[in-house]
Amino acid sequence: MRVCILTGGGDCPGLNAVIRAVVRKGEKHYGDELLGSLDGYRGLIDGETVTLDVESMRGTLPRGGTVLGTSRIQPYGVPEGLERFRRSVESLGIDALIVIGGEGTLACAQELCRDGFRVVGVPKTIDNDIGGTELTFGFDTAVQIAVEAIDRLHTTAESHDRVIVVEVMGRHVGHIATWAGIAAGATITLIPEEPFDIDEVCDALVRRHERGRYASIVVVAEGAVPRPGTVELPDKVYDAFGHVRLGGIATRVADEIERRTGYETRVTTLGHVQRGGTPTAFDRVLSTRFGLEAIDAVHDEAWGQMVALRAGDIVRVPLSEAVANLKVVDPRLWDDASQFFA
Ligand code: F6P
Repeated sequence: MRVCILTGGGDCPGLNAVIRAVVRKGEKHYGDELLGSLDGYRGLIDGETVTLDVESMRGTLPRGGTVLGTSRIQPYGVPEGLERFRRSVESLGIDALIVIGGEGTLACAQELCRDGFRVVGVPKTIDNDIGGTELTFGFDTAVQIAVEAIDRLHTTAESHDRVIVVEVMGRHVGHIATWAGIAAGATITLIPEEPFDIDEVCDALVRRHERGRYASIVVVAEGAVPRPGTVELPDKVYDAFGHVRLGGIATRVADEIERRTGYETRVTTLGHVQRGGTPTAFDRVLSTRFGLEAIDAVHDEAWGQMVALRAGDIVRVPLSEAVANLKVVDPRLWDDASQFFA
């Protein structure tokens, strides 16, 4: 078969490990010819693809980012995009597509299936918010990076008797914040799923500091929201694809903490550091297993399915299930995290 792989949306540690696994099993086991679409769907819209083989993927397992490039461009979002996409698929003799992406990229994959393309999905995002799978690759790496950073912030916060507000990624959900908060011993964690009351946050910090602790770490997911009517946020800014561009909640929270408590407060925003660089061993293994299952799914003609992790097994779920609802933080885990607050 002639199989084309693409990576769409934000990059994520482990993308190359997925591509490498697809190429390895496709070429060696199935005798496939493998192609890569450059910059996500854009490559097929513009007819820009590369040949992939075991040789060309050597050395990519530990590399962050994606050797294919990525973008948020989609066939349904550009003039005559679908027709151009279809022309490339037909002229290149592509039998199947493996689409590696997050919510937007996978929703587009589902539409392509409805329009007659033969697609298998692989879930990707450091946010870990895709439904149907217990974990997405990249999440473990992002948490690890956040925990290492917060461990370092503890010692400087303690030396200066400061509050440090650390902003981690998590556009709609607080998986990274919750896990990093538990693992690094956050004083308080704020996530989108649980709108916060700044008065309660400050009261908790004051109670803690009155007990003789003079340093605190507040972990805040970039998408965390104050309870209505409590803290004013600046107007939202959107990118060209309608995605809200977040960042800045930590500064608002820190300003309020300093103003209301008088404690010296600093901000650290981890940003794209969480997405860059080498994947953890766990993410390399998960990515590899996802890639191997994706090429098997292609040969089983499991169109419209996405590979997923469930109870330790790699399984297939319908793309429709994966994109129907974002996976939010389990309330039981949030309850565990909150036992340690302040
Ligand atoms: O969805 C993954 C993610 O890293 C989010 O956590 C973050 O809000 C967003 O991507 C950032 O996107 P961009 O790379 O466009 O700034």
